[in-house]
Amino acid sequence: MKDLKCLVTGASGFLGRQVASRLRQEYQLVLQGHQHASEGMLAIDLRDSDQLRKMLDNVQPDIVVHGAAYRDPDFCEAYREEVRRLNVCPTEVFTEILPDEVPFLFISSDYVFDGLHPPYQEDDVRNPVNADGHSKMVSEDRVLQRARGIVLRVPLLIGAGLTWEGSGFIQKTVHVIQSKERVEIDDRGIRFPVWIDDVADVIAFLLKKSLPGVFHYSGLRGVTKYAWTKEIADRLGTSIEHVFPCYNESRTKAMRPLNTQPLTTKVQNLGYTPVYRLFRGRGTCSGYVFKDII
Ligand SMILES: NC(=O)c1ccc[n+]([C@@H]2O[C@H](COP(=O)([O-])OP(=O)(O)OC[C@H]3O[C@@H](n4cnc5c(N)ncnc54)[C@H](OP(=O)(O)O)[C@@H]3O)[C@@H](O)[C@H]2O)c1
Repeated sequence: MKDLKCLVTGASGFLGRQVASRLRQEYQLVLQGHQHASEGMLAIDLRDSDQLRKMLDNVQPDIVVHGAAYRDPDFCEAYREEVRRLNVCPTEVFTEILPDEVPFLFISSDYVFDGLHPPYQEDDVRNPVNADGHSKMVSEDRVLQRARGIVLRVPLLIGAGLTWEGSGFIQKTVHVIQSKERVEIDDRGIRFPVWIDDVADVIAFLLKKSLPGVFHYSGLRGVTKYAWTKEIADRLGTSIEHVFPCYNESRTKAMRPLNTQPLTTKVQNLGYTPVYRLFRGRGTCSGYVFKDII
């Protein structure tokens, strides 16, 4: 397999680093990043279609995992055209240029659903309530026109990133708890967070299977962000008088779906055994060991 060349976009990001580290065992990797591209990565602005076309021409990948995107729903809501430039246009270029036989795995999200009718199977009706989810839906449609297009939908990601800002929910929550600044945290939306390590394993599995279509992967446990913040504070032995539950849609932020619980039976029926590392806890976070937190 090592003779296959796999291009991973967004490899300098939170999920992308983990994906690169997992796929390195099996493929010859070409990694793309942008502002945080480290040594050995291609620093390419995917919004510039000329740069993207040139990269594809040079690399000639056998497989592509496309994860680069704006991920903050509030940013996506405020800057829709800019979001189209990164979350949609490069997908259009990839799907136009790549030969049919090249598997193209696109990282999508549970935000393609409105969250009103959980749990969700892969072929359930999509109805995104915000610009982030909408950009994913449009890209999914392009990917699924390909003979070897794979869409992997994942929910809230957690894991060990390089900085608390560039990490998942746990680090951000520890930061909020420690900062003691007044803050409101959503207590309506139910999320099924999943470790980035698990997602990287599923990606490796799906690439091996090389079956086109949509797949879901998620953690097992549904929590609101506020309930989880309380749990984490309890584990840390800290009070959270400065953190308040929020039950209303914010007028200034993007709408969030209520409960997008993704069902993962399709990938399991294909033979994937879920690891569900969510509550095993490894790695460290702001000086704590995960297992002390979750
Ligand atoms: N985080 C979540 O909870 C979550 C949930 C569901 C789905 N997802 C999806 O998972 C994927 C990875 O998310 P993440 O959390 O790992 O995001 P992230 O940490 O913000 O990483 C985003 C990646 O995109 C790259 N990028 C940003 N602007 C770019 C540009 N103009 N040109 C080329 N590359 C650019 C970044 O490169 P630089 O940093 O080097 O600029 C980085 O490698 C995304 O598709 C996201 O929508 C994430």
